[in-house]
This record gives sequence, structure tokens and C-alpha cells, in this order.
Amino acid sequence: MMRAGAARLTGCAAAALGLAACSGVQTMLDPAGRQAQDIDVVWRVMLAVCGIMYLLVLGFLAWALARARQAPPDRIPIIGETSAEPSLRRGLVGWTALIAAGLVLLTTVSFLVDRSLADVGPAPIHIKVTANQWWWNVEYRGDAPSENVTTANELHLPLGRPAVIELVSNDVIHSFWVPNLSGKTDLIPGRTNYLAVTPKRTGAFRGQCAEFCGFQHAKMAFDVVVEPKAQWEAWMARQTAAAAQPASFEATLGQSLFESKACVMCHRIQGTNAGGTVGPDLTHLKSRAHIAAGTLPNSRGDLQAWIADPGGVKPGTKMPRVALSSQELNAIVTYLETLT
Ligand code: CUA
Repeated sequence: MMRAGAARLTGCAAAALGLAACSGVQTMLDPAGRQAQDIDVVWRVMLAVCGIMYLLVLGFLAWALARARQAPPDRIPIIGETSAEPSLRRGLVGWTALIAAGLVLLTTVSFLVDRSLADVGPAPIHIKVTANQWWWNVEYRGDAPSENVTTANELHLPLGRPAVIELVSNDVIHSFWVPNLSGKTDLIPGRTNYLAVTPKRTGAFRGQCAEFCGFQHAKMAFDVVVEPKAQWEAWMARQTAAAAQPASFEATLGQSLFESKACVMCHRIQGTNAGGTVGPDLTHLKSRAHIAAGTLPNSRGDLQAWIADPGGVKPGTKMPRVALSSQELNAIVTYLETLT
């Protein structure tokens, strides 16, 4: 009784795990982009072909073992004799044909999907993503310079419109991967790679660096938001605007502290004296879901903890700890909270 209960529980847990793996913000089993749908077709065909082959091989093995056991000891066939058996010959020919058919199917499907992946589609938007240890710089290339947008660790994509993502690296090899939308593509120093993405479903997805790139490789994630065209255009319009001037006394103090401390050496805030390009652009920091490349939620407390001790949150990070009194830290965070 106990054993049956435990077996049922294990079965349920396995089924739940299996189902849970089929949906989510970071899984190739829940495609939300044209390219991911194509890759999903290859994966399903591969699973079917390889699964059937595997079961057939095991079946034949079991059959051969059973047959060998049943045969009388003096009738164990020798090589010359077996090849003469007409039924075995037919079996071998059939087996070879089956393997050939499976291989032809796999080759055809991967060829067609490869062709489809290479086809970008009409009127794509252009985005340049630069990988750094351990964050992502994101630049939207508009038709006019005034339409260029720089942000970090977050991509917004319009539903149904293709995007061509130009991928470069500032330091070591990284890999750009949003499993729900497309396959992986490496970012290699001194080389430019391109990846096409056509989102087919709105939602928030998670991207992750997929090539080991140092200590904080695991904490090199990013958010991808797929939204309807009007919403995306509104987001773009907000991103092209300069940062709002702080209104409160504390936020104004925070801005002047930001501009007089080391922060200004690395970060840019459009419309202020902060013009650093070593770290992420913070012009619309509060519009993002996470900070430190997907490491922490973008809340006041987390922002405070991150600035107070970046190395404590992300050991090895290049963001230094800037000596600040608690009053100064509070003022800077209050200012950063105005950057919507
Ligand atoms: Cu960047 Cu791993």
C-alpha cells in the first residue's frame, strides 16, 4: 500500500516537473517567436525519429536474446549460415531503408529550418547588443539620430515585426540566448554576428548568457518584453526623452552627488553631465524590471544594497564600491528612483 502510494507520488511529481518544463519565461519548449517555432519543429522531429529508432533497437535486442535462448545448443547459427537466412536478409534491407529514411527526414527538416532562420522578414528594426563582463549594452538604431536609444539589460520588441540583432563583445566570448524566441548566437571579440528574431506572442521573457565568460557568467541575464506595436512605440518615445529634472530637494542633492562622485565616470544619464560609457546607461533606469543584469529586482532596497556593496552582490563585478555616507546613499537612490 505504502509502496503504491509512493510510486503514485513519484509519478505525479515527474509529470508535474515535465509539464512545468514545457512553459515558462526561459524555455525553448514554449516557443513565442517564429525562429523558436522553427527550432521546435526540428527538436520534435529529432525526438520522434531518435525515439522510434531507440525503441526499435531495444526491441530487436530483446528479441535476439530471447531467440538465442530458445535455440537448442547445437543449433546456434554460425555467421555463414545466418546471412543465408532469407528472412534475416529482408530484415537487414528493411532496417537499412528505415535508417536511411530517418536520416533523409532529419536532413530535410534541418535544411528547411536553416533556410527559414536565414530569412529575416520585411522591415526589421535594428538593435545592437554589446556584451560586457557581466552586462548587456543595448542600442536601438532608428532612422534618424534622434531615434537612437541606448539602454541596458532589457530589450523591448514589437509583436510580429522582425528584429535584426547585431551582436558584438567588448571583452571575452559571450552567447546571446532567449530560448522562447530563438537559438543561441555567440558574441565574439573582433567579430560581428547577427540574429533575427520575430516575436509571435506578447509577454516577458528571460535571456541568459549561454557561454561561460567568467566569475559572474550565471548572473548575466536580461529581460525581453514583447508588446503590441502601439505600446512599443510609446516605450521608444519615453526612452528617447532625456531624464526628467528631479523635483524634490533630496533628489536634486542626489543628482549633484551622482555627478560629483565616481558614478559619473562610468554611467550616462541623458540630459545631465553624466556621460560615462563604461557601465550601463541609467537614463531610464526605473523603467527596467531588474538591476545588475537580471541579478536583483529593481526596488529601492535592492538598488541601495547594490550601490552600497556591488562586490557583495556580484563578486568580481567591475562596478566599484564608492564611499558614501548613508545620507548620500539615500539621496542618490532617491535621485535614481526619479529616472523613469
Ligand atoms: Cu557572458 Cu557568460
